[in-house]
Amino acid sequence: MSVTTMIKYLICPICSGGLSKTGQTLQCDNRHSYDISREGYINLLLPQHKQSKHPGDSKEMVASRRDFHKTRLYKPLADALSAHLSDQANVLDLGCGEGSYSQWLLDSEPGITYYGVDISQNAIKSAAKRIPNGTFIVASNWRLPVSSKSFDRIISIFAPTQQDQLHRVLKTQGYWINVTPGSQHLIELRHKLFDQTKEIDKQVDYPGWRIISQQHLGFTMNLTKPAITSLIDMTPYIWKAQSTRIKETKALSALSVGVDFQITLRSSTLKV
Ligand SMILES: C[S@@+](CC[C@H](N)C(=O)[O-])C[C@H]1O[C@@H](n2cnc3c(N)ncnc32)[C@H](O)[C@@H]1O
Ligand SMILES: [Zn+2]
Repeated sequence: MSVTTMIKYLICPICSGGLSKTGQTLQCDNRHSYDISREGYINLLLPQHKQSKHPGDSKEMVASRRDFHKTRLYKPLADALSAHLSDQANVLDLGCGEGSYSQWLLDSEPGITYYGVDISQNAIKSAAKRIPNGTFIVASNWRLPVSSKSFDRIISIFAPTQQDQLHRVLKTQGYWINVTPGSQHLIELRHKLFDQTKEIDKQVDYPGWRIISQQHLGFTMNLTKPAITSLIDMTPYIWKAQSTRIKETKALSALSVGVDFQITLRSSTLKV
C-alpha cells in the first residue's frame, strides 16, 4: 500500500492533527512524531494511555492464536465477513490480533483498504510482518487515532469496542460488523475444562444502532492434539480453568468441538 494511502486516515494521538511522512517518521504540524517500525506498523498508543507495560494479548497468546489460525478452521468466519465487504471499502478491524483474518479478508477482497488496530504490540508486529497490503496500528479502541467518518466497515471479532469511537469513525452509510460468541461456542471444550459453564452469549442491545442482519455461523471442528492446545492457550480459559483440567484436556488425542459465531451487522442511527 502506498504511504499516502496508509497515512490518509491516521491522526496524531496527541493533537488529532493529520500526519505526513518524512523518512520513516510520521509527523503532525505540531511536530509530534511517530516512527514506522522495521515491520511496517505504527505505534500510536501513548505511554500515558497504557494500563500496563504490555497491554492486550501477550506474546504467548499471540503465538497460540497464530498456531490455531494456521489450521484455517475459523476461515469460514472470514468468508462470511467478506460477503459484507464491498470492493474499494475502507475497512477498520478493531482488535485485529495477529493478522490471520486480515490476510483472509485481503485475499478474498483485494480491493479493500484495510486498517488493523490492536493494543497488543506483539499482535500488530506479527500481522505487519506478514501482510504488506494492510496498515497496522498499535492503539486502543478507546482512543482511535483515525479521522472521523472515514470507514465504510468496522469489524470487531471477539474484541472490546467503545461506542462513541465507533460512531465517530464510521461513515454515515457504513456498517459495524460485530462478531460475538453464541451460547454454544466451544461448549464441548468448556465442558472438559469447567464443572459449570457460564452463559457466554455476548449479545447486547446497543442504543444508537439499527440491526441490519444477524447471522449464526455454526459448524463442528475435529481438533487434533496440537489444535486443542493452541485453542486453549489463545482463550481466557488458560487463566480460568484449573491446571489439572487443562493438562487432562491437552492430553486428548482428538476432540470434536462446536463453533457458534454470531455476526451482527449494524448501521448508526445517531446524527453525529
Ligand atoms: C480475543 S482476541 C481476538 C483477536 C482477533 N480479532 C481474532 O479473532 O483472532 C482480542 C484482541 O483484542 C485486543 N484488545 C484488547 N483490548 C483492546 C483495546 N482496548 N484496544 C484494542 N485492542 C484490544 C487484544 O490484544 C486481542 O488481540
Ligand atoms: Zn500532534
